[in-house]
Amino acid sequence: MSSEFDLIVIGAGPGGYIAAIRAAQLGLNVACIDAWRNAQGGPAPGGTCTNIGCIPSKALLQSSEHFEQAGHDFAAHGIGVSGLSIDVPVMQQRKAQVVKQNNEGILYLFKKNKVTFFHGTAALKGGNADAGWQVAVTGKDAEQVLSAKQIIVATGSVPRSLPGLDFDEQRVLSNDGALSIDAVPKTLGVIGAGVIGLEMGSVWRRLGAQVTLLEAMPDFLAAADAQIAKEALKQFTKQGLAIHLGAKITATKVLKNGVTVEWTNAKGEAQTLKVERLIVSVGRKPNTDSLGAQTIGLQLDERGFIQVDADCRTNLPGIWAVGDVVRGPMLAHKAEEEGVAVAERIAGQKPHVDFNTVPWVIYTAPEIAWVGQTEQQLKVAGRAYKAGSFPFMANGRARALGDTTGFVKMLADAQTDEILGVHIIGPMASELIAEAAVAMEFKAASEDIARICHAHPTLSESLKEAALGVAGRTLNF
Ligand code: FAD
Ligand code: NAI
Repeated sequence: MSSEFDLIVIGAGPGGYIAAIRAAQLGLNVACIDAWRNAQGGPAPGGTCTNIGCIPSKALLQSSEHFEQAGHDFAAHGIGVSGLSIDVPVMQQRKAQVVKQNNEGILYLFKKNKVTFFHGTAALKGGNADAGWQVAVTGKDAEQVLSAKQIIVATGSVPRSLPGLDFDEQRVLSNDGALSIDAVPKTLGVIGAGVIGLEMGSVWRRLGAQVTLLEAMPDFLAAADAQIAKEALKQFTKQGLAIHLGAKITATKVLKNGVTVEWTNAKGEAQTLKVERLIVSVGRKPNTDSLGAQTIGLQLDERGFIQVDADCRTNLPGIWAVGDVVRGPMLAHKAEEEGVAVAERIAGQKPHVDFNTVPWVIYTAPEIAWVGQTEQQLKVAGRAYKAGSFPFMANGRARALGDTTGFVKMLADAQTDEILGVHIIGPMASELIAEAAVAMEFKAASEDIARICHAHPTLSESLKEAALGVAGRTLNF
């Protein structure tokens, strides 16, 4: 097998594997190297997203949502359920199967697109853009050296731990352990009420755990629109998640059968939380540990991210970096868009990624999704805007579904009517947000959405109604 390629991609998460496929489509001879191992030690491409992130979390969210609905919602439809139970090992096997299908799908796509896959750890060894960069791959049995004039680094991110509280994945869990719990704990603590904390906290609460979240910030979901965050806090609290804001962790102790957390609440009062298991979800950090960045002088910023310009170029010619290992939101679809754009740039094209139209989704129930600016961001920027909103309570499909929580809110420029942001909390928000992202990419006005025929009865009519609301003329509310 040749060791010379046009492009070597390091990491086969959503940033890397998508970049590799796109570059191969454009005629480049591509190698992709990924270190992830499955339970048998075999290759498991797909990165954090496929193995311990987006995919397994959504599998468990789905299983636990079915359980919750069977226990709480089916009766209203006249469906009786007796002897409802949850078999956690079966739920986990299903999750593992979903992950495996995705791993195998990526290996199939590599074959289909003639991307040469190497299973092992890659390290940058030396070279330059003219003669080619050398990358050593340490696999199961041996080391081999590959070379290419173009390199894309897509090594992703790893969970951040708290000082003095290492992950043991038994009592103190990162997202990896949080996705692999083998029996419903009676009590579960979560440090950090961000995206992972809320999604994982929801899974185990639905299955019967008493869940307490300790969040350092005084505001809940500070990145979301404040009105959406307020509604989310109300709904999650009603469901039984105990969420404490302004919490300061002062000490932790890992015991044989649980974890004790000493903390102070927003008023400064000392508190103690004793839980069987503790998830620590306080953010993630870039993963450059085994990359050999220093060996070749690849520049990192003060937080350890690979330093890149707006086009994902590093300080070294021919070396690019995408996804979680660079600045910007740590989202799979952001990594993918950057991967595609870099592959196209290498092939001489001029793509553009608009960070303002990257949607955010939190897959709780109700789901939360947004794209563009929040109301508080517009206020800080001093931009004059109009707002329209529509509650799912007034939507016929939501009533038929029995899921009327939440609302859609649209923000548009006061003068031009250009849509500046769309914020949704409610059923299928994750799917509904796509229409808003498309509209914003096309620089649509709220009136454009208001004048488009939406199928009836659908949840998407709520988006149209929110757009009508911008002009103060909702029809069904
Ligand atoms: P990664 O997916 O982290 O992939 C990097 C790959 O590089 C890994 O396979 C790693 O093994 C490999 N690697 C690293 N160093 C080397 C090396 N030296 N040699 C060889 N291989 C190496 N995002 C969403 O958009 N939607 C979601 O619903 C969502 N849910 C999430 C849920 C959880 C619990 C978590 C933790 C994350 C979630 N994310 C979600 C975030 C998403 O997983 C990441 O943004 C995404 O995986 C980043 O992709 P990436 O390609 O940059 O890196
Ligand atoms: P996060 O940034 O979403 O949330 C971390 C939370 O922990 C913040 O609210 C922060 O204020 C809090 N925190 C930090 N230090 C703390 C401390 N010492 N004590 C108490 N609270 C503390 O990070 P999270 O949840 O770890 O997820 C990492 C990333 O993974 C997300 O930012 C997101 O990009 C990605 N992700 C995306 C998902 C999605 O798109 N649905 C799902 C899960 C993760």
